Amino acid sequence: MKQINSYIDSVFYTKDELLEEVLSSIEENGMRSISVSPSTGKLLTLLVSISGAKNVLEIGALGGYSGICLARGFGKEGTLTSLELVEDYATLAHQNLSKAGFGDQVSYMTGEALQSLEKLVSDNKQFDFFFIDADKDNYENYLKYCIKLAEPGALIVADNVLAGGSVADQSAKSKRYTENMKKFNEMVANHPQLESLLIPIGDGLTVSKVKE
Ligand SMILES: C[S@@+](CC[C@H](N)C(=O)[O-])C[C@H]1O[C@@H](n2cnc3c(N)ncnc32)[C@H](O)[C@@H]1O
Repeated sequence: MKQINSYIDSVFYTKDELLEEVLSSIEENGMRSISVSPSTGKLLTLLVSISGAKNVLEIGALGGYSGICLARGFGKEGTLTSLELVEDYATLAHQNLSKAGFGDQVSYMTGEALQSLEKLVSDNKQFDFFFIDADKDNYENYLKYCIKLAEPGALIVADNVLAGGSVADQSAKSKRYTENMKKFNEMVANHPQLESLLIPIGDGLTVSKVKE
């Protein structure tokens, strides 16, 4: 897995100064280096762009790395709503999205994502693309909310679903969230409203289309 991902990154990654500055800003602020991998970021841009999504919801902003990748997919026409627990992280993410030229197209909702999602449902909001990348304990709950908030045909993408390979490889070090990810993968694979597949890029992404 690691070898394959290093190979993909080495062939397909092109130096991206803006995203590298985002990673530096995360380090300088003493935050954990847990942004999506470069190839995952590139895939997010491609998926938003190919699907033509214009109204994106992200769960887990950190310093704005994935936010920039998502926004690049819709360019000048589109909006990103990003949910983040920590106020300071949302502030940094907004600064970084602004540097990337998307400052006016993004809005942050801070606090527990589950509460923000409840608010979005009660406000009758709808989205055509979702990216789940926050606390692993709530992935199943996040998925349920995403389906409630989805326009027909929307895409729901979730990161870290391979849990470092431990969902499939018993010799890989088990993670705290290995069992959660196994359950989540089963859920998206068998959900009657979803058409799904797992793509082994980075730490693994599930891509689900909400049936029309
Ligand atoms: C893996 S990081 C997100 C990385 C980001 N998607 C990127 O690639 O640039 C997970 C983020 O989720 C946030 N988070 C954790 N638990 C949360 C919760 N209950 N509600 C909202 N955000 C949460 C963390 O503060 C952290 O910033």
